[in-house]
Amino acid sequence: MTEADLDAVHEVEKLAYTHPWSRRHFADSLASGYPAVLLLGEALPGETPHPRRADGRVLLGYLVAMPGVDEVHLLNITVAPSQQRQGWARFMLDALALWSRGQRAQWLWLEVRASNAPARSLYQRYGFQQVGLRRAYYPAGQLQREDAVVMSLNLVAGGAGEPR
Ligand SMILES: CC(C)(COP(=O)(O)OP(=O)(O)OC[C@H]1O[C@@H](n2cnc3c(N)ncnc32)[C@H](O)[C@@H]1OP(=O)(O)O)[C@@H](O)C(=O)NCCC(=O)NCCS
Repeated sequence: MTEADLDAVHEVEKLAYTHPWSRRHFADSLASGYPAVLLLGEALPGETPHPRRADGRVLLGYLVAMPGVDEVHLLNITVAPSQQRQGWARFMLDALALWSRGQRAQWLWLEVRASNAPARSLYQRYGFQQVGLRRAYYPAGQLQREDAVVMSLNLVAGGAGEPR
């Protein structure tokens, strides 16, 4: 992901979340040098990809992570709504786990909204364990807050991120 991708990324972000990241969030992540990658596909014959990229490819999804001492923190993983339930999130988690192991990270960490059943199911099935709860962590509607479920995946035990 580069600065030039941010319009398209932010368009998908707004479609995918009730509380999307701002464009600034992405720009700050890039400026900090965090790993941020796009998942691109080919448009099918007759398909008009949205958002349209100059190279004609389709933005299927993206992720942003933050490396720590012996862990990598997943900050954002998103699959465009029209592309969901095709295994793309799992594919991106595989890539992230492989990259993280290459960085000698032992853990992947993330937070997820308590109400985000699709994402919680994805992480749980991938092997993440719930390790905590941050109360009222996320904004949720007018003057409301929502808990974050904290999850981690041990990259050393269990073989996560190894080719299947
Ligand atoms: C969560 C998200 C990333 C999943 O992406 P995806 O590409 O559709 O997920 P996959 O196709 O790789 O699904 C892998 C597994 O996740 C779970 N899952 C994914 N979407 C689900 C849904 N809508 N309902 C229930 N389980 C779901 C299933 O266990 C699925 O395995 P299965 O298809 O064999 O049943 C996607 O729904 C998304 O971008 N949501 C909006 C943004 C978001 O919430 N990101 C996570 C923030 S923490």
